Amino acid sequence: MSNSKNIRVSDTAFVTCAFRRLDEELSGDYYAKLWNNENAEKILKGYINYVSKEEIETHCIRNRYFLETIKNLVKNNEIEILINFGAGFSMYPFLLDSDISHIEIDKPEVVEYKKEVITKLISQNKLPKRDLTYVGVDFSQDYLDKLLTNLKQIVDNRSCFILIEGVLFFLNKSETILIFSLFDKLQNTNDYIGSVSYTEDARETSAFSRLIEYTNRGLKDASADGCQIVPNSFYESLESYRLINKEDYFSCSKLYNHKPKLDADDILNESFYILKKTIS
Ligand SMILES: C[S@@+](CC[C@H](N)C(=O)[O-])C[C@H]1O[C@@H](n2cnc3c(N)ncnc32)[C@H](O)[C@@H]1O
Repeated sequence: MSNSKNIRVSDTAFVTCAFRRLDEELSGDYYAKLWNNENAEKILKGYINYVSKEEIETHCIRNRYFLETIKNLVKNNEIEILINFGAGFSMYPFLLDSDISHIEIDKPEVVEYKKEVITKLISQNKLPKRDLTYVGVDFSQDYLDKLLTNLKQIVDNRSCFILIEGVLFFLNKSETILIFSLFDKLQNTNDYIGSVSYTEDARETSAFSRLIEYTNRGLKDASADGCQIVPNSFYESLESYRLINKEDYFSCSKLYNHKPKLDADDILNESFYILKKTIS
């Protein structure tokens, strides 16, 4: 990798999607291939060679875990809307039953492009129709009140699952506290959050050191003090929420009959959290 910062945060959305395409059976994402492009392939190859070759499987397992979790909640009639913060090119709307609504939030340039492509693919019958709303916003700017008002109108008190997957690494602590305060203001009792982040333990690995080096050298528009890790205590201490499940790459690998290949020190082990709102 060169020293010049030539990768945008939005490129990471294409790359994450490309990981899922490379093992559809493990990820459960049979639509990721629709976003295949040359630039993402090039970044992906450089990234896995530099950081960790197990990044394909870690991302597939992450998608699979949230897909299965959300599917179960939909089956049990516990959620009516999935709100995906930093949705990138994730394809949950098309992998889940048509009877729930979706709000996809990301940087304006990402949602504009996604909306254009998805609209075209639906009109060509390459994707099934879904109830989708796209919202462009930058979580590093002053967005809270306007976004909250907008989301409250769309959600209209329906039960929701908020997903924030592959995003907190790019934000800093105050941006994280702010976004979780928005979740709290938006959600009602029994609503859910699914969140992904790295713990202090993950930070100790060689793979994480390489990730930081890669990010600092290559990524040009991440938050000033990003590369965030989030301790378990952050989730445990959220007043209105109860942490009802925590998994990671290794525990989920057992669930989906997958065998990690590399030494733990060479694997970027993200943690996956499910929170349920207890107080409104
Ligand atoms: C690694 S991608 C993950 C995408 C998707 N959640 C997934 O798992 O496939 C990170 C996403 O977070 C979005 N993101 C990062 N920082 C953001 C910010 N400050 N405001 C809005 N979106 C942001 C990026 O544009 C990108 O789509």
